[in-house]
Parts: sequence; structure tokens; C-alpha cells
Amino acid sequence: ADGHDLVVVANRLPVDVSLDESGEPTWSRSPGGLVTALAPVMANAEGAWVGWGGSPGLELDPFVDEGMRLVPVMLTEQDMERYYEGFANDTLWPLYHDVIAPPQFHRQWWDAYRKVNRRFAEAAAGQAARGGTVWVHDYQLQLVPAFLRELRPDLRIGYFHHIPFPPLEIFAQLPWRKQVVEGLLGADLIGFQRAGDAANFVRVVRRLTDLTARGQVVTVGEGTPQQRHVRAAAFPISIDSHAFDQLARTPEVQTRAKEIRTELGDPEVLLLGVDRLDYTKGIRHRIKAYGELLEDGRLSPTETTLVQVASPSRENVGAYQQLRDDVELLVGRINGDYGQVGHAPVQYLHQSFPMEEMAALYLAADVMLVTALRDGMNLVAKEYVAARSDDRGALVLSEFTGAADELVGSVLVNPHDIDGMKDAITYAVHMDPRESRKRMRRLRRRVLGHDVAAWSHEFLSALTSVPVRDTTGD
Ligand code: G6P
Repeated sequence: ADGHDLVVVANRLPVDVSLDESGEPTWSRSPGGLVTALAPVMANAEGAWVGWGGSPGLELDPFVDEGMRLVPVMLTEQDMERYYEGFANDTLWPLYHDVIAPPQFHRQWWDAYRKVNRRFAEAAAGQAARGGTVWVHDYQLQLVPAFLRELRPDLRIGYFHHIPFPPLEIFAQLPWRKQVVEGLLGADLIGFQRAGDAANFVRVVRRLTDLTARGQVVTVGEGTPQQRHVRAAAFPISIDSHAFDQLARTPEVQTRAKEIRTELGDPEVLLLGVDRLDYTKGIRHRIKAYGELLEDGRLSPTETTLVQVASPSRENVGAYQQLRDDVELLVGRINGDYGQVGHAPVQYLHQSFPMEEMAALYLAADVMLVTALRDGMNLVAKEYVAARSDDRGALVLSEFTGAADELVGSVLVNPHDIDGMKDAITYAVHMDPRESRKRMRRLRRRVLGHDVAAWSHEFLSALTSVPVRDTTGD
């Protein structure tokens, strides 16, 4: 009866662990959409969470935090370079996001990815109760399902892919494409953000393996005693919408929102961008469009402010360093050309902020700009909507996000089309209040009606309904 009935496996623990001056471990909430999405679910389930604590070389024993057992997996400096910064974030990340940056293929990185995935699988195998459920998350851990099935055939294994799954023509570039597909097929259920991602995956299975797929279902080990079915389907992720809505209604946040506008010099128009500083987010395209609107005089440089929060991310990866330089050059140019004493048209913040401050920024903003070139879902768009209990504000949203499938009521844009984006921003800025209220109400119905609890419930009940055969024979 030992072990947990539910084990989550993700690259990151929901906390960042480090040692304080006296050598004792301390922890704080770690960044990332995945953590934000899953923390409320796990807090209730008394599950175990297997993941990396965020500091290299730190070996820690499992500990309990808010009723959840946290099981740290150790990554060495070299694992960080080859598995995390290398294979996960310089090979898979660009490959899966439409090759916006060129993916790097290195055999040593692949070896490290395999080795670290094996380590995560072993840690999860050591936590799960007999016949329990293990839920593996995201592209860093695509080999874990198959390793885990080998170690523990008694388990139900789910995998959720938080980022896009690319078309065959792009995925096929990966020298280890077959191993990755086989790793994923260790799961009973493979979840994706959009129906298109699931369809891409099934097509990859058909073309790169000999397995048969009927609709969403792939048959593995056909005609053998190990025969089983793997289902691939869409489960669009969400946020803790009600918590966010409540937070944004508190007097502190309401007051802070007004204060932000005052501190910015009471601009007529306040535009907002909130992203990890990542080349997939279309930050440069957005700032370029904004700069041209100032140049054309369609937005007043003295009466308009764009607040761009760009939280630091993956700073050891070359493409991210290059992006930071590019964005900061562009921001400097625009502020130099169109600023005046006491007013900069772009307020650029290379920082992370607590939820309360984010909620206040969302409330303060007239128009939210989400212009990703490719994004699995984009939870910022949903947070903005959840914060707007006043039914005001407008959302400009890239059609290349998973959120675009759901968020009818936003103003959709193609971020590569700078003129189209300029028109969309102008339209959102001048939108009739009746129209924006109607749109926001529709957006809020969707976001509040489908929160992260609904998402995890849908995934886990679909996983539970997959028939599991115990093949250990003992
Ligand atoms: C995306 C990924 C997550 C990741 C997060 C933050 O949302 O889907 O798996 O945790 O970015 O990135 P980081 O590399 O800091 O974990």
C-alpha cells in the first residue's frame, strides 16, 4: 500500500529550492505556466511531484510542502548544459515552434536527454503506488512514458504536451525522431493543446512507425499479449480563473491599478505586453508595429504608453541572449526617437512580478497585446481576461496561439503582417465601449467556464477510462 496514487512528473518542481547561508534548503514558487496551472490541482490531491529543484548539483531528500510530497531530481551542471539548455531548449523548443530559431542537433545533448529522462522515470517509479497513475509533463520528458512502462507495467501513464507538436515535415528533421515517438507511445493517453497538434502527432506515428492508427487511437504491440491502445487527443489547458478573478477584485489590486496609471503619467492609452523573454512570443514584431504607429502619428507618442514586461528566461541559451539584445536595441531606438523628458513611450521591464502586480497591470491596461509567432496555449491571454471583471479592455491575440481556438471575442492578428497588426491595434484602441464589453463578456464566459481544475479533471478522467492490463504476472 506504499506509494502515491497520483504522481506528477515535470522538469521543474512547483518550487525553486536553494540552500540558505546556514546550508538549509529553502524554497520559493518557481516560474512557468506549467507550475501556475498545476499547483492548485496538486495541492488537493495529496500527490507526489517529481521534478528538478532549479539549482545545479543540489542533492535533496524528498520533503512535504502544502500537503504535497516534493521529490527533487538532481541535475549536474553538465546535465543543465546538455539536457536543459541544450536538447530541451536549443533543439526541441525551436524545432517544435516552427523553427523560428534554428534548432541545434548535437549527439552529446541527445545522450544527456536520454540519461536524464531515465533518471526522472526511476524517481517516478519509486513513488507510485501499485496500479497508480503517473502524469508526465512536457517536451523535456518525452522519453519518460516508455522508460516508466518498462519499469512499472502496472501503472496508468498519462503525458501532456504543453507546447505545439510540429507538422511531420518539421519533426522529421530530428535525428532521433523515432526514439521520441516511441518514448511518447509508452503512455496510455497523450494530451495536446489543440486538435491540430494531436493530428500532427498521429500523422507522425503513421509515417515514422509501422503501427496502425484509427482516428485518435494507436495500437501498440498488435497481436501480442502486450497489445494496448494509446489515445492522442486535445485537452486545452487553462488557469485558476476564479482565483485570478477574485484577486483582481481585491481593493489592493484595484487601488494599485489606478496607481500604475498615475505613475505612468495618466496616458490616454495604455498598451500591455507580458511574456517570458522568448523569441516565440513575437515581442519584436509587436514593438515594431507600435513604433510605426507612433511614427505614422496614428498613436500619440506623448499620450500613449506600452508597458512591456519581459521576464528573464533561459539566459544561458544563445538565441535568448540575441533576442534580449535585439529587443533592447529596438526599445532604446523608439524611446530615443519619440520620448521626451519625463515620458518614455515604451516602459520595458526585464523582471518578474508577483501575481498581485500582474493583476493590477492587466486591470490598468486598455489593450493587451499577445502576438506570439507560435505558442502552445498562452496563459497570459487567459489571465488578462480573468482579471477583467469590469468587462472592459480589449485583447489583441495571435492566431498562432492555442488560445486563439477558444478565445472568440479577441481581435485576431497574424504577427508577421505588421500592417495588419497596426490596424488591429488601432481598432482595439478605438473600439466602441459597447463592442468591447460584449467581446469581453464572451471571453470571460469561456475562461471562467473552463478553468485548470476542469482541464486536469478532463485529462485524468480520460486517462482513468483507458483500460489497463497488468502484465507483471505476480
Ligand atoms: C513553457 C514550457 C514549460 C516551462 C516554462 C518556463 O511554459 O511549456 O515546460 O516550464 O515555459 O520555462 P523554463 O525553461 O524556465 O522552465
